[in-house]
Amino acid sequence: MTYVVKDDCIRCKHMDCVKVCPTDCFHEGENMLVIDPDDCIDCGLCVPECPVDAIVFDDEAGIEFWLNLNARYAKIWPLITEIGTLPEDSEKWKGVPDKKQYFSDKPGDGD
Ligand code: SF4
Ligand code: F3S
Repeated sequence: MTYVVKDDCIRCKHMDCVKVCPTDCFHEGENMLVIDPDDCIDCGLCVPECPVDAIVFDDEAGIEFWLNLNARYAKIWPLITEIGTLPEDSEKWKGVPDKKQYFSDKPGDGD
């Protein structure tokens, strides 16, 4: 079992989640983060940190796409453990539905 970052994160990318993770699970893409399911210990600490409720448990209906995407890109994108620079238009993307179309497979900078 693991927690999963879903499309609500895309282009918001607040990064508050990375501060609290005890096992450094987060990996950075150009416009979202993902959780490595092999490192997540299901502590749930990151869930209330996200201002856009982008982190869910992997038993949520319809989460399979994002679960697979997290597992895949966590092995490709760099680790992130500290909050970086927010996207300038981060707030504008809060609550925008179905942001899958804006997903970028490019890696972020990491730290
Ligand atoms: Fe890290 Fe815990 Fe969130 Fe998993 S649930 S990503 S271990 S903070
Ligand atoms: Fe994304 Fe929320 Fe973390 S917007 S970067 S999952 S705090």
